[in-house]
Amino acid sequence: MKKVEAINFLYVLVLSTTVFLIFTYKELTETKSPGGRMRLLWNWRSVQESYHLAVYPCIESFRVRAHLPVIYVVTPTYPRPTQIPELVRLAQTLMTVPNLFWIVAEDAPILNPRVASYLDGTGICHAYLAAPMPESYRGELKTPRGVSNRRAGMDWIRKHVTEGVMYFADDDNTYHLDVFEEMRWTKKVSMWPVGLVTHLGVSSPVVIDGRVIGFYDGWIEGRKFPVDMAGFAVGIPFFLSKVDAEMPYRAGFEEDGFLRSLEISVDDVEPKADNCTKIYVWHTRTQKATPAPKIATNITHFTDSNLSALEKELFLETSESAFH
Ligand code: UGA
Ligand code: MN
Repeated sequence: MKKVEAINFLYVLVLSTTVFLIFTYKELTETKSPGGRMRLLWNWRSVQESYHLAVYPCIESFRVRAHLPVIYVVTPTYPRPTQIPELVRLAQTLMTVPNLFWIVAEDAPILNPRVASYLDGTGICHAYLAAPMPESYRGELKTPRGVSNRRAGMDWIRKHVTEGVMYFADDDNTYHLDVFEEMRWTKKVSMWPVGLVTHLGVSSPVVIDGRVIGFYDGWIEGRKFPVDMAGFAVGIPFFLSKVDAEMPYRAGFEEDGFLRSLEISVDDVEPKADNCTKIYVWHTRTQKATPAPKIATNITHFTDSNLSALEKELFLETSESAFH
């Protein structure tokens, strides 16, 4: 009897050790790839906090190029038919820039799984945040577009980042790769020209002998810094030192309000792009597209065709359940 008990005990011991080893192995292999592990955690958080983070392709590459400051690109975006094409175009620029972290902030109460999965597929290290414009501004004649999104991006940076550079890149502009290398070593605030802004065709700091002495812009309107959102970058340590810096919900005055809140003078501005003689970013605007109508899949030769799959591409799914 004693012998049978001992064998049973041994049997249970071997079984539980095997189970324990399998779990530990899984845990260890996940921990070895830091991104994979973090991703699991953050996916859970995405449902809890409207927040989604994909880091694994990048942690290693940031380490390899540790001498290069990381550029944190904050992109406001919002649901509309041209959203994915805009993000594709921008992503295909950003994916070639080393040491870049993309913060995509969506003007919507919850994340869109289609956008999340597109972003994951780019391999770009990114955080995807839901940051809806407060309802009180929605009805206004001129709404402060992209402000709640940029503010959410800045909050994220304040919580998670200590080094690097911050840049606000709207989803519909055109970016030459050189603009990122120009901004990478920004100390306080760097600036450069932006093409296709107002009737003047360009908005730029005015530079004499390597110093900014004023601004050329088609819409001055009492602004101390009459510049476009795409025309400046901010050093993150400097930004963090200005604890009250914030972007106002004031259409047309977002850039000026934010730059004033950094408490800089025109003299502090670091001119880039060969003393503002080159254009590396353009304020292009995409023509609005009307939402596609439902495809009439009841028409005989449409039934069982590709069209029902295509329809899924046309309509943005927003249910949280698609995250699971
Ligand atoms: C211009 C400036 O380039 C913006 O930086 C500035 O926020 C805006 O004017 C303003 O003053 O309102 P513009 O091309 O006229 O931008 O505006 P959009 O491109 O339509 O919007 C700017 C950004 O906000 C885009 O990235 C867009 O995706 C986002 N957006 C726009 C939202 O998040 N929600 C909206 O309802 C509309
Ligand atoms: Mn735009």
